[in-house]
Amino acid sequence: MAIEIIDLKTGKRKEKEIKTIEWDSRSATKDSYEHFMIKEILEQPIAIRKSLSQDKEKLMKMAIGILRSRQVIITACGSSRYAALIGRYLFSKIGGKFCDVIISSEFGYFKDSIDKNTLVIAVSQSGETADVLEGLKEAKKNGAEIYSIVNVVDSTIARMSDEVLYLNCGPEIGVAATKSFLSQIIIFYILAFAMNNKTDYAKKQLTNIAELIENALPYTIEITKKIAKETKDQNDFFYIGRGINFAVASEGALKLKELSYIHAEGMPAGELKHGTIALIEDKTPVVAINPDDHTYAETLSNAEETKARGAVIIGISDNESEVYDYHIKIEKVSKIFYPIACVIPEQLLAYFLAVERGKNPDKPRNLAKSVTVK
Ligand code: M6R
Repeated sequence: MAIEIIDLKTGKRKEKEIKTIEWDSRSATKDSYEHFMIKEILEQPIAIRKSLSQDKEKLMKMAIGILRSRQVIITACGSSRYAALIGRYLFSKIGGKFCDVIISSEFGYFKDSIDKNTLVIAVSQSGETADVLEGLKEAKKNGAEIYSIVNVVDSTIARMSDEVLYLNCGPEIGVAATKSFLSQIIIFYILAFAMNNKTDYAKKQLTNIAELIENALPYTIEITKKIAKETKDQNDFFYIGRGINFAVASEGALKLKELSYIHAEGMPAGELKHGTIALIEDKTPVVAINPDDHTYAETLSNAEETKARGAVIIGISDNESEVYDYHIKIEKVSKIFYPIACVIPEQLLAYFLAVERGKNPDKPRNLAKSVTVK
């Protein structure tokens, strides 16, 4: 098909580069699903596989760029920021590279510390979020280099960047980030592993995990639906986790708030005793992100402290425990990969809670898919 672009003022033909976007138009339909959100949650094993398809040389180039930069700052909003917090942990744990994460709407307040020796990594599904764009403009003005991790091909953020990694997970229609969040994490894993030349190992592990979580979907749907039915009348949920699981907990709380309008907070489990534990009452649900990693015993003990004050504990874990009133069993995977196993259970819990409360998860009130205003 030939396309001509004419400038209406001058009547002259304009030359434009043609870019092919590999998105299947069926991704923009609900198929037989009730909501886009559930469709997008369930297609995540496929999304993982697609996100893993990245150019190895580019990955290596960017990994080296990150390692060599004097200072690395990741900037993002909402769910993308929680993905960034997971990425920050992975960069440190796997690549030995410390970096900071700054919420994009706060980025400008740190501009005095951004210079030509700074690498800023923007994370954004839409590639159009105004706060992120604003931060990147400031960073560019100060001479920083820009990398980005985005979903929408050729979006403004992608075009502003020196290097881009695309999520390749296809269009996300539901307002809540689901598959884009998991895909962002996948990109962070392979970037972090590229830092010590282990991309092939990471890809193999992640491919196996995609299959494990795919097989677990029927069980995960059944258990989260049951928990949603029995907890739908609660007003507050607390999500706790330590280390990398704190970021996973924060994302779980955000999903619940935006879809079901239940107040939820995600926090480092160790922080409870510094104030929030005062809010725990009889039957308050506490979701413990508690896989069998080095945080396991301490998070379990923090969950127990809330149980002693009346909380109902929803444990997302591969280990059984009598502390859990509800147990969402996840797959056993190599320790560093546990966030991938914990994300779908919390998305499904938020989805079913929204549905139980009669809310439309695809169109949460007051929210837009892409926030293009400051
Ligand atoms: O398109 P972006 O990733 O830049 O969007 C950032 C946030 O607006 C987005 O993640 C928002 O928090 C979602 N509603 C979360 O589900």
